Amino acid sequence: MAKYLVTPALPYANGPIHLGHLVEHVQVSIYVRALRMAGEDVLCVCGADSHGTPIELNAMKAGKEPEQYAADWQKSHAATFDKFFIEFDGGYGSTHTPLNKKHAERIYGALEQAGYVTRRDVEQLFDPEAGRFLPDRMVRGTCPKCGTPDQYGDSCESCNSTYSPTDLKDPKSVISGATPVMKSSEHYFVSLGKFTKLLQDFTSSDGRVPAGIKNYLDRWFADGLQDWDISRDGPYFGFPIPGADDKYFYVWLDAPIGYISLSEKAAQEKGRTFEEYWNDPDTRIVHFIGKDIVYFHTLFWPAMLSAAGHTLPLKYGIHGMLTVDGVKMSKSRGTFIMADALADALGPIGVQALRYYYACKLTSGIDDIDLSLDDFIQRVNTDLVNKIVNLMSRTVPMLHRYCDGKVGPTDPAAQGLLDEARARAAKVEHLYRDLEYAQVVREVVAIADGANKYLQDEKPWDVAKTNVAKAQMQLSTALYVGKLCMGLLGPIIPDASQKAAAMVGAEGGFTFASALAPLAEGLQLLPYDRLFERLDKKAVHSLVVPSETGAADGKKAAKAKTGQKAADKQGKAKKEAAKKDEGPPAEIKVDDFFKVELRAAQVKKATDVEGADKLISVTLDVGPLGERHVFTGLKPHVQPAELEGQMVALVANLKPRKMKFGLSEGMILAAGDKEPKPVFVPGAKPGDRIT
Ligand code: MSP
Ligand code: ZN
Repeated sequence: MAKYLVTPALPYANGPIHLGHLVEHVQVSIYVRALRMAGEDVLCVCGADSHGTPIELNAMKAGKEPEQYAADWQKSHAATFDKFFIEFDGGYGSTHTPLNKKHAERIYGALEQAGYVTRRDVEQLFDPEAGRFLPDRMVRGTCPKCGTPDQYGDSCESCNSTYSPTDLKDPKSVISGATPVMKSSEHYFVSLGKFTKLLQDFTSSDGRVPAGIKNYLDRWFADGLQDWDISRDGPYFGFPIPGADDKYFYVWLDAPIGYISLSEKAAQEKGRTFEEYWNDPDTRIVHFIGKDIVYFHTLFWPAMLSAAGHTLPLKYGIHGMLTVDGVKMSKSRGTFIMADALADALGPIGVQALRYYYACKLTSGIDDIDLSLDDFIQRVNTDLVNKIVNLMSRTVPMLHRYCDGKVGPTDPAAQGLLDEARARAAKVEHLYRDLEYAQVVREVVAIADGANKYLQDEKPWDVAKTNVAKAQMQLSTALYVGKLCMGLLGPIIPDASQKAAAMVGAEGGFTFASALAPLAEGLQLLPYDRLFERLDKKAVHSLVVPSETGAADGKKAAKAKTGQKAADKQGKAKKEAAKKDEGPPAEIKVDDFFKVELRAAQVKKATDVEGADKLISVTLDVGPLGERHVFTGLKPHVQPAELEGQMVALVANLKPRKMKFGLSEGMILAAGDKEPKPVFVPGAKPGDRIT
């Protein structure tokens, strides 16, 4: 039995948990539950990352002390995780604790003693009114490259160039509005370059990081590792640097050390010590992170650990970012969905449905994860409820009706079905360990498909009229497969799985072994307890509440509105121009182009439209975006039969248009002025982006 220490990243104590965070927490929760089902010894810890300038400033805005502000968010996170069946050893903690301070000082001391810390003066923008240095994000001004006003101090949203805040024209502090001045102060640096060899060996060793991350890492090594600035001048919410005057550890120094202090607390509760985890080379430390924080975890963190003589992480689970219906979560689209909003609207079943859906999407790769609301409903209702849960929800009540709730032997004629189910089931534990959850779900759905077909073919409800013993055997066979599926999905839908276990007498929930074990003949089933239910389309879609402005503050709202007016005007002008056919359209920026969501879509069905000789009615498979229906005016130039099966290019984010014949949800691209023919994209998969 190996000893595991598993962590998700520590969410900032600066706002609520949203569906993006949950990708990671669901990934971790499934992993930990699967390891435990396999009998492994696992410690899993997490807590709020409580330090840094944004937290301090938001606390100020909220009229709270930063300690209180962070503690309030910590409490909020803990309550949310509870609703999602996400649990941590030692409880959901914080980085702002005396224990974490102790470890931060200890590890900093080790770095310093070994000669890795240097000091030098740094010139930085300083807000003379607020009396503090300004992080890049706290300065706004005119982009030095393209002249766009009101840009951040580190990068321009208009031309995407990056620069130093000292290059900004007309810079202003976002804290006070004052014009910043240059001021010098001494900063502390860790010479990361001295760890180059160690880090190169570390990150390139087999299985440590997903293959998709190798490119990033290679680029960083090729550029040479820069010294890492670990100090911030006060006022700052963090731990003071021992021996320095009004200087603090940068939040990213003590944040990962949180993994150590949180595990010390959790270990102590189990009568163990943190040394058993962090000083034992056999501990399997597995960190789960998003691909946005790879640098900190694969370079800074192992450098700190090695300087302090600690065990290095064995493996990183790295995931992509969440998109909703194909685009980044966005406040204005209303897709920035809070975890609590989902839990409140859909309840514990909906929460597990989300876990199931994320599992359908999660692999060991780093691709972004798309939550398509229609696909979410579809997968939960058709696969989970109608196929998997169905096996128990049908057989258990019938066994009660015909056989007093007693399990019989399995059907010898179903040997093939059972062999296949067991063969697939045998793969599942390793798929979980390898983070291939999407494949777990595919295996389980395939197992359930076999048993549903068996039920459909054998019709035990008819057999029961003449041969109860045979019906009992058939129902028991399907029930066995049903409980096997519910057992295998235990890490994903823990509450439903637990209920299923209770129904068949497996108190305390399933292990992989007990999920696979045959049901004892004569076993008395408990009455059927509803395991799951279908998602309601309306309730799910109610989660998306587009706000016209996308911002809570009035200034942005006003800006967005005038922007809208200008856009309307522009639209009118464009139409006018098109009518007069005044040559090619005006130039657009690349951002404008990216507003058009082009996707490959496969034509599932194409038919003529009665009463409209130019139109073809087309049903499209757009992969993760689900099915779409579109009317295209290409009829004189192409026949419906020529379209069927083809991969076409679809404008997928066109506002749906009500036509006389029905709703059209997009536009199929065509080329050719006089004889427009559809543009085919052979080789693409349904839903692939076209860029
Ligand atoms: N506090 C740091 C982590 C410190 S770890 C020592 C941080 N916090 S965070 O709240 O911004 O993000 C926490 C985790 O959630 C990160 O791994 C991040 O990748 C993940 N996600 C945050 N937003 C996300 C999405 N929209 N989609 C997927 N994961 C996202 O970074
Ligand atoms: Zn610019």
